[in-house]
Amino acid sequence: MRKQIAAANWKMNMSYQDGVKLLDDVLSSKITLTADQQVIFAVPFPYLIMAKSEVAEETNNFIAAQNCHHKEAGAFTGEVSASMLHSVNVRYCIVGHSERRAFFNETNEMLAEKLDSCIKHQITPIFCCGEALEVRESGTQNDYVSRQLEQSLFHLSAEQIRKLIIAYEPIWAIGTGKTASTEQAQEMHAFIRSLLRGKFGSEIANEVPILYGGSVKAGNAKEIFACDDVDGGLVGGASLVADDFIQIIRALK
Ligand code: PGA
Repeated sequence: MRKQIAAANWKMNMSYQDGVKLLDDVLSSKITLTADQQVIFAVPFPYLIMAKSEVAEETNNFIAAQNCHHKEAGAFTGEVSASMLHSVNVRYCIVGHSERRAFFNETNEMLAEKLDSCIKHQITPIFCCGEALEVRESGTQNDYVSRQLEQSLFHLSAEQIRKLIIAYEPIWAIGTGKTASTEQAQEMHAFIRSLLRGKFGSEIANEVPILYGGSVKAGNAKEIFACDDVDGGLVGGASLVADDFIQIIRALK
């Protein structure tokens, strides 16, 4: 079975103290994960080491950075590289979240470099893709997402793709309370998997977890995660409330 993943994306929320409490509350619920289930907490940079030690004893719980710079090192004030993340034992990183694309002008080409850098430093990227509302309304979402994958992922080898996690996050569903319907989610996830199959073969396509993101809540997670090609979720708002995120973890296949 493919890995089933509940990933929390805290974004720029939570004080350090509130973050410690949130992690304690989620972890103290002692959810038993199967061998195929994982929980990942993508926390702000200054909390990574704390979060790492909080999850250390917990099987199948990991931490992630929310971003990294695409270059190795140098005069990039305020930035953090994949090699730095590696040096503090971070093994996952969100790459290409739509907020980074929109507010920090991250392009598909730049994201290809970020992926290379993560992979070089043994960091599993959680690569985000997804269309804006006007793209969806014009019915061209498949072309749009396929271009995102082609330009950022398709230079990778099959072995590298195998290590990736993809998150489909329709921008119109992020933080809006408007979730994609299960049909819309399943259709796009199956389409993404078909693109992977076409480029890298069935074995690889069947292995890559594809998470859904965009207003995943305690009340809708089970239904969304039940879709054949949905392998869990990347969760923003609802990951900031311990009880909600616990229910979302419990909703994993
Ligand atoms: P949301 O955010 O769950 O608050 O919609 C998801 C995301 O942006 O990863």
